[in-house]
Amino acid sequence: MNQFLQVAVDAATEAGTMLRAAFDRPKTISYKGEVDLVTESDKRSESIIVTKLRNHFPQHAIKAEEGSPDAADNAKYCWHVDPLDGTTNFAHSYPCFAVSIGLVEDGDPVVGVVLNPIANELFTAVRREGAYLNQKRIRVSPIERLATSLVSTGFPTHQRANNRNIYYYWEFTMRSHGIRRDGSAALDLCSVACGRFDGFWEFGLNSWDTAAGMLIVKEAGGIVTDLEGRPYRPGDRSILASNGKIHVEMQELAGQVAERGESLSLQRNS
Ligand code: IPD
Ligand code: CA
Ligand code: CA
Repeated sequence: MNQFLQVAVDAATEAGTMLRAAFDRPKTISYKGEVDLVTESDKRSESIIVTKLRNHFPQHAIKAEEGSPDAADNAKYCWHVDPLDGTTNFAHSYPCFAVSIGLVEDGDPVVGVVLNPIANELFTAVRREGAYLNQKRIRVSPIERLATSLVSTGFPTHQRANNRNIYYYWEFTMRSHGIRRDGSAALDLCSVACGRFDGFWEFGLNSWDTAAGMLIVKEAGGIVTDLEGRPYRPGDRSILASNGKIHVEMQELAGQVAERGESLSLQRNS
């Protein structure tokens, strides 16, 4: 196995085992913002992952959500780590969360690992080597039209009043089989990769939410851009991931919502 992948899988597995045990115990919650939660488990998971990555790859940079200090700013390789994607779910004992670890080389994801420790589902990808769920090859869905698609999205926990996504939510609900709002962007992307969802979009995600999942989607044969159709890079302000077949339809519908300009009135009133 690719050495980078092996270390990322080991780190995710160790962190996932800890999270699985902590999930059944009372949670210690604090707040980073009005509804932006963080638990002791977010921090413990990050410490497990960062320690392992640092031991193996001391020259690599690390960008991790809970703020582990960065080793090298202009390193060729940077690990983007979300130690617990779906913190709100975890804090409420809703069993939908993941560890997400992505390695980016010169801005381009080369390794992606997303682990759901409750379902025991390990999603992995290496650039140009395909995407896997528990070591079985996965592919995006063959669905051809948005009208017969199941899609997903999410809403940020910070600057809620500035987020226009509710208008997109309405429009996509009316034009598809429905929307799921699972609360873990990393798992949303993996669900596109293995054909459970046909598309996913969101605004305001960070690089640690998407670096691993975007590679897994692409290696499963899907497409990842921003909502205007430009190539997506981890941390861009919007993301659109799909099975490829409904991509333009999703992009055009998003364009129509954007043109209506409801975002501006929402921002003015907030
Ligand atoms: C959140 C989840 C959620 C998404 C939010 C993210 P966190 O990450 O991915 O699905 O809608 O925008 O912030 O805070 O649980 O790591
Ligand atoms: Ca996250
Ligand atoms: Ca997180």
